Amino acid sequence: MSAPLEIVILAAGQGKRMFSDVPKVLHRLAGQPLLAHVLASARKLTPSAVHVVYGHGGEQVREALSQAGVDWVPQAEQKGTGHAVAQAMPRVADEARVLVLYGDVPLIRPQTLQDLLAAAAPDGLALLTAELEAPAGYGRIIRDAAGRVAKIVESTDATPAEAAVREVNTGFLVAPAAKLKKWLAGLRNHNDQGEYYLTDIIAMAVAEGLSIVTRSPRNVSEILGINSKQELADVERIYQKQQAERLMLQGVTLRDPARLDVRGDLVCGRDVVIDVNVIFEGKVVLGDRVQVGPNNVIRDCTIGADTQILPNCVLEEATIGHRCRIGPFSRLRPGNLIAEGVHIGNFVEVKKSDVGAGSKMNHLSYIGDTTVGGGVNIGAGTITCNYDGANKYRTVIGDNVFIGSNTSLVAPVTLGAGATIGAGSVITKEAPAGELTLARPAQVTKPGWKRPIKKSSK
Ligand code: UD1
Ligand code: CA
Repeated sequence: MSAPLEIVILAAGQGKRMFSDVPKVLHRLAGQPLLAHVLASARKLTPSAVHVVYGHGGEQVREALSQAGVDWVPQAEQKGTGHAVAQAMPRVADEARVLVLYGDVPLIRPQTLQDLLAAAAPDGLALLTAELEAPAGYGRIIRDAAGRVAKIVESTDATPAEAAVREVNTGFLVAPAAKLKKWLAGLRNHNDQGEYYLTDIIAMAVAEGLSIVTRSPRNVSEILGINSKQELADVERIYQKQQAERLMLQGVTLRDPARLDVRGDLVCGRDVVIDVNVIFEGKVVLGDRVQVGPNNVIRDCTIGADTQILPNCVLEEATIGHRCRIGPFSRLRPGNLIAEGVHIGNFVEVKKSDVGAGSKMNHLSYIGDTTVGGGVNIGAGTITCNYDGANKYRTVIGDNVFIGSNTSLVAPVTLGAGATIGAGSVITKEAPAGELTLARPAQVTKPGWKRPIKKSSK
């Protein structure tokens, strides 16, 4: 049996250059903390344990990711990457293999890590390295005449010849736990930064005759660390470009791949078309031939086939059926179940309501805590008065009800199937099925009445 895998994620850094009170690894990429992205990649490798070394803003980090099911390892003072890994080692099994990841390097692909793990000998070291045009700031990979890795030299400690090397240490490495423990115990901080360098274990391993394999990521974006808001924005754009490319590869039409933001999981059927400036958050599922117009924000929704979302809607936690037309300017607050063929138009807000097939509410309405049957027509300006300041009440609207414009439905109230409500009504009692109900003053005409006339002023 192969050795169990334990992952150590370094996440103690403060991120001084973020100029923020938020710990660095909690800054968000595509709506999720940086560390959450790294944890998601870590989990795909099915490790037997994940240890997160945390320091700055520690409690905040633990709280934000309390569901993560990881082993939290405090590092009170940041004394270098070697010191950081050493804090986790007492909790790591001797027979394990250790993979080191970074809480601020979110785009690493699980496949790249798999390849690195596969390349490492059971009892050997593997390093992820990259050839960079501008290697400044990175540790350099120093090889011997035969091309074998001899050591890593940090940028600040490098001689001019070493600094000229373009193969750099990405930081990602695989090592056998027992040996790693021993090497880390032997680290010294006699270097330019006075830190315990994880990278110094390479020369120790070489001295013991171990051979060190190296692999490289497919794309250098995988190894980009985030130290500033500029880098955060750059990595966000790379991430979003990848999402757009993935969707287009699956056949989704994007009117402009640069003007789409996916902050979560977006699953699309065939022949989906997405116009510009659309933000998807959480888990969104779009059925076949769904069309999403420009300027929409859609969070945690399932949208049925052939439904059109017209421009400028905010849709949250809704299940929407087939062949619906939503928008422009519709607001679906959480908790709606919308059947097929429903039309919801401009300036209509719907909350915690079930709407039956083919029902229409096209203009200027608030429908909350309501059960709407099928084939209902809700006139412009219809409001459910569902709240008395303390309690919420339900409104029940039967099938084929027709509600005239500017009607107030004072909940709790029921409109029987086929009822018609006259425009301008304030409905406070049950409206019987099949009947016309009106609740408004009768219209009167005062014959001969004259408007007052202004007296002319001298
Ligand atoms: C490190 C590597 C360098 C490599 C580079 C890649 C070392 C000594 N150097 O340098 O070879 O090219 O990464 O980006 O390893 N951290 C802690 N606790 C600490 C120190 C660091 O958790 O005490 C975390 C940081 O939050 C960060 C990561 O470890 O996520 C790397 O630390 P950083 O100081 O940025 O390393 P570099 O100097 O960039
Ligand atoms: Ca540093």
